[in-house]
Amino acid sequence: MCGIVGILAHRPVAPLLLECLQRLEYRGYDSAGLASVVNGDLQCRRAVGKLARLRETLAANPLGGDIGLGHTRWATHGAVNLANAHPHANEHLAVVHNGIVENYLELRAELEQTGAHFASDSDTEVIVKLMQARLDEADEPLNALLSVCDRLRGTLSFALLLRDHPDSIFLAHQGAAMTIGQAKAGQGRGETYAASDSFALLPLTDHFCHLQEGDRAILRRDQVEIFDRAGTPATRQWKRLRLPEAGADTALNKGNHRHFMAKEIFQQPEAVAASLHEYLDPAVSRARFPQLPFDPARITKLDIVACGTAYFAGMVARYWLEEIARMPVEVDISSEFRYRHPILQPGGVALFISQSGETADTLAALRHCKQNGQANVALVNATESSIAREADVALPIFAGREISVASTKAFTCQLASLAALTVFLARVRGVLKDGDEERLLAQLWQLPDQLRHCLALEDDIRRLAHSLVDARQVLYIGRGVNYPLALEGALKLKEISYLDGEGYAAGELKHGPIALVDGQVAVVALAPSGPLFDKTIANIQEVAARGGRVILLTDRAGAHKAEGLASMLLQLPEATSLQAPLLYAIPLQLLAYHCALERGTDIDQPRNLAKSVTVE
Ligand code: M6R
Repeated sequence: MCGIVGILAHRPVAPLLLECLQRLEYRGYDSAGLASVVNGDLQCRRAVGKLARLRETLAANPLGGDIGLGHTRWATHGAVNLANAHPHANEHLAVVHNGIVENYLELRAELEQTGAHFASDSDTEVIVKLMQARLDEADEPLNALLSVCDRLRGTLSFALLLRDHPDSIFLAHQGAAMTIGQAKAGQGRGETYAASDSFALLPLTDHFCHLQEGDRAILRRDQVEIFDRAGTPATRQWKRLRLPEAGADTALNKGNHRHFMAKEIFQQPEAVAASLHEYLDPAVSRARFPQLPFDPARITKLDIVACGTAYFAGMVARYWLEEIARMPVEVDISSEFRYRHPILQPGGVALFISQSGETADTLAALRHCKQNGQANVALVNATESSIAREADVALPIFAGREISVASTKAFTCQLASLAALTVFLARVRGVLKDGDEERLLAQLWQLPDQLRHCLALEDDIRRLAHSLVDARQVLYIGRGVNYPLALEGALKLKEISYLDGEGYAAGELKHGPIALVDGQVAVVALAPSGPLFDKTIANIQEVAARGGRVILLTDRAGAHKAEGLASMLLQLPEATSLQAPLLYAIPLQLLAYHCALERGTDIDQPRNLAKSVTVE
């Protein structure tokens, strides 16, 4: 999972490559590198760490040339070091690669038997060696590329630069997204670009073509030739894109905040309002969704499939859909879904949730459903992503671009959209009584103000965080819709502060995890007053009785009832089960954020992670 870019220009290419790579850094930041042909020489510059390190390398040792490749890495095969950084190259050719060559061990062994020597532990190096072997046999570059691709298994895309063909970049697309762009630069002269996504190329063009599965391509400055897997010339559609972030690019600065994460947390009232305005019609108090290619009233079962935070949004939606729309729902982690041989029944629909729309496991699960004829819908933030393009219907969540690796506003916008979908499905299935839809919509319209109220608690949450950072472990517990929230709170804490957080269904604690509890363990209990409150309080008592420190997140009525029980208490607005998951998300996000601030971690780009996980 990496970001790749290729540019054929009439101007120095290194600054352009860097600008595009900056926009691809969400795919990984373990190392970065560039390749170019300069006066007949193939040259590379590489650096370990974020793009800033590569900039320093280039300042000390500039790279010329008007054709080049760029790469930002998230390590899969081989440690984070210079030898494994891309481009992988020899004096004749350079490769930048996104994905995994799954049969690389077998290919490497075969190449070593013929005397090849490997300088890295990267799977990508087999592409270099295989290509070189084909070129040595005097193969034409395109034929060499086609036969090398035939040997590679896995989900991957790569770009290739050949010293002896300094007017061309060669591309292969196999499962991992690749976009080509073209523009007229100064004096009507053409430039051509390729990248892992169109967002990377927005500073250069708005004219794009998405390669299809198995496509190979030869890019020249004024010409793009595309071939299918067999090498037959293929015609693909070109489109002008108006992505929401085109032009202004306000998403790319932090505003008054220290981190993108903080900015994105504080954007939630407006972002959630944008989702609601799309899917709720205030004029008639109705939830509204676009025409679907199946009858929503006759869905027999909904399979929700997603990863990470998006999966937790799906778990919350299951509670809503079962309770309010009386719909049978299953929720799966994408990487497990295909392999448990799910029963895709007639009349069933699969719903894929993904902020980036590029998560490899979710994309693979979507393809599995399509191959098996299952109707499908995608809930996405990135509307030009692979998942958005491949799904039968894509429903945007309107969160705006999310830069920080930790997902915040995408989560609450997923929830807002799913809440609206729940109300819509409940109506079309005929399970709402008179006045129910108006009542539920009124609850949803309150959300932006309630979110503002929660954000205003930041100072109290900062104090809570201060009391948490010395805990050996932080357990998050909740019941009903607050159980997935407990999982989400723990994930946020882990990923940005590296503290050990675990989420549990509150009732499950006594079946094992309570053995962890002692004075060094803090328990964050999510307990809005309501039907499950008393049972959650009983679980809190069990923790307190064993010396655990309880931090209670509740509302006024809950605070009153639980007086004296918790070491610390945060009082949130009163909330229904449709509102609570969005409101309780805010203190969980801010708690993780302030713990991470105290611990001095790299909040927007935490270690070992990437924003978009494009490998399975
Ligand atoms: O782009 P996606 O929504 O498909 O990403 C899914 C997960 O990788 C993502 O939610 C991840 O868990 C976040 N880093 C959590 O903050």
